[in-house]
Amino acid sequence: MARSIGILTAGGDSPGLNAAIRAVGKAADKAHGMQLIGFRDGFRGLMQNRFIRLGGEELAGILDRGGTILGTSRAKVHKMDVGNGTPADMRPLMRKTFEQHQLEALVCLGGGGTIKNALRLEDVGIPVLTLPKTIDNDVDGTDVTFGYDTAVNIATEAIDRLHSTAHSHHRIVVVELMGHNTGWLALGSGIASGADVILIPEIPYDVEAISEKILHRRASGSPFSIVAVAEGAMSIADSAERSRLSNEGDGDALAEFEKEPTRSTEHLAEELEERTGLESRVTILGHIQRGGTPSPADRLLATRLGVACTDFIAEGIHGVMVAARGDGVAAVDLKEIAGKRRSVPLDHPMVHSARSLGISFGD
Ligand code: F6P
Repeated sequence: MARSIGILTAGGDSPGLNAAIRAVGKAADKAHGMQLIGFRDGFRGLMQNRFIRLGGEELAGILDRGGTILGTSRAKVHKMDVGNGTPADMRPLMRKTFEQHQLEALVCLGGGGTIKNALRLEDVGIPVLTLPKTIDNDVDGTDVTFGYDTAVNIATEAIDRLHSTAHSHHRIVVVELMGHNTGWLALGSGIASGADVILIPEIPYDVEAISEKILHRRASGSPFSIVAVAEGAMSIADSAERSRLSNEGDGDALAEFEKEPTRSTEHLAEELEERTGLESRVTILGHIQRGGTPSPADRLLATRLGVACTDFIAEGIHGVMVAARGDGVAAVDLKEIAGKRRSVPLDHPMVHSARSLGISFGD
C-alpha cells in the first residue's frame, strides 16, 4: 500500500487554500510516491472520518479556485461541540481515524487557532505540520501568510472605487477592513490605495487628530478624505479600557465591551461628520475580502509551502509550521509560535512609508 498523508483546512477560509492542497497532493505523488487523503470541514471531519481521496482528478482545475474544496470549521479538537451541550475532547477519535488510514502525517492549513489545535494533536501522538494561511497575515514565525496578498488586492480595488465617489461628493468615506486584532490588511490596502488616514489596532487613535487631518486637507483644496479602518482599531481611551479589562481577566466584561456600539465604524463616521462638517459614509467590506480567486502571488506562496511540506514529511519532520522565509522556507517548531500573534511593529517599513507620505494614523 502506498504511504499516505492526511490534509484538512481549518479556521476562516482564505484564497490559496486549494492551491496549497493541490501542491501537497501533486508533490506527494510525483516527488515522493505518496497519496493524499482530505478530511472534510476541518478537525470535525477528522473526528468523524469523513474523507475524500485527493488524486489527480480531484486536484485538477482547483489552482485558481477560492475557498477550500474540503470545507472548513472553527471546531477545537479538545473542546468540540458534539451536540449535547458539553464540549468534549475528541482527540482519541481523531487518532483512531489517523491510525485507520495509516497516515504518516496530518497537514493542517490554518492560522493561529489551527496552530494551537495542531499542537494539541501532537500531544496525543499525531504527527502534524501546518501551513500558514489567513487574510489577516498575523501568524507568528512566517514572513507572510497566503490569502493576505489576495485580500490586499481586493481591498485596494474597493478603496480605489470609493475614492472617486468620495471625491465627487466631497465626502469622508470610512471603509472598514478585516484583520481581526491586527492592522496588516488595512495598512497594506490603505497605502496601496492612497488612503488619507489609516487606523490600526497597534496604534490607538484620537478622533480629534483624525478630524484635524481631514480639515487640513479641506483647507488645502481636498474636501474629501478616505479613512481606512481595521476592524480591531480603537481610540486611545477604548484601548486603555480594553487592556484594563483584559488584565483583570474579566471575560464577560470584555465580551460586552467588544460589542459596544460606540466602538463601531458607524459611530466613528458620525463623530467625524460632526467635527468636520463634511458628510460621511461608511463601507464595510466584510467577507468579500476573503472570497474568490487567489492572486498569482498567493498561488506561488501556497505552492512553495505545499511542496516544502511534502519534503519535510519525507524527511520525517513534524510538529512544525512550514513558514515562508525570504525566497525559501523554514520549519518552525509549533511550540515556539502557539498562542502568539504577529502584530504590525510600530517601526515597520510600511508604517514609516505611510508617515513619510503624510498619511495619518490618528495619533
Ligand atoms: O481570520 C480571518 C477573518 O476574516 C478575520 O479577518 C475576521 O475577523 C474573521 O475571520 C471573521 O470570521 P467569520 O468568518 O467567522 O465571520
